Amino acid sequence: MIDVSRFYFILMDEIKSKLNTSQSIVVLTGAGISAESGIPTFRGQGGLWRNFRPEQLATPEAFEANPQLVWEWYNWRRELLAPISPNPAHYALVEIERQTPQFTLITQNVDGLHGKAGSRNVIEIHGNIWKVKCTQCGSITDNFDVPMQILPACQICDGLLRPNVVWFGEMLPQEELYTSQRAAAECEFMLIIGTSGIVQPAASFGLIAKQSGAYVVEINIERTPLSEVVDRTCIGKASEILTRIMSQ
Ligand code: APR
Repeated sequence: MIDVSRFYFILMDEIKSKLNTSQSIVVLTGAGISAESGIPTFRGQGGLWRNFRPEQLATPEAFEANPQLVWEWYNWRRELLAPISPNPAHYALVEIERQTPQFTLITQNVDGLHGKAGSRNVIEIHGNIWKVKCTQCGSITDNFDVPMQILPACQICDGLLRPNVVWFGEMLPQEELYTSQRAAAECEFMLIIGTSGIVQPAASFGLIAKQSGAYVVEINIERTPLSEVVDRTCIGKASEILTRIMSQ
């Protein structure tokens, strides 16, 4: 009979010692790290708005066809996000960054919570909901209005503004993508937290790290396709597992 609690302690201890000895660490996060802050994940329960799936609204075609509807959806998300605070999982990553010589945090999340928690070297590969981009002149600016005026206009050229996030079918920002891939290929230790590992290219970063010899650990409340690739999968809530690792 396996003593599960003892196995778990050994696993936490192994991860903690890898955290302590690794000079270069990359963390990849998905919606699951923000779930305990009260933000619905994309593929879990509660991700719906007026019965639309994100895949139906977060597209250039949807914005082209009905920019008003897409802005109403983003206003709903901004109003949901505005009072939300980072949770212990976000703060644990701030502490790990503080202790690690080379640390890169790659996030698929657009909620801005890593920056709010104090993380510094953050690559937002899917953009940030608190930034807007002009569809005419391409200028990108911060905007924290809640709600935003529907069909907002650029203050430089009066063009229509859109959320500065990556929509389905769009290319990721190339600089952020290249930097993320290089960080994954060069790190000693990768932590993958709260992502379903379905959406490319983020889902490939774990394999890049593994193939480059890194020790890769996944933290999720359930197994994912990445579980076949990584060295260890810790099943549980991100804040609980990270807090336990940090307190080892
Ligand atoms: N702790 C850890 N993991 C959690 C928690 C939690 N408390 N709650 C949920 N999860 C896990 C779920 O099991 C799931 O595997 O978080 C993952 C969330 O998966 P998705 O909802 O698919 O979100 P994500 O992986 O970030 O999606 C990637 O897809 O929709 C696009 O651009 C969008 O960035 C998003 C991308």
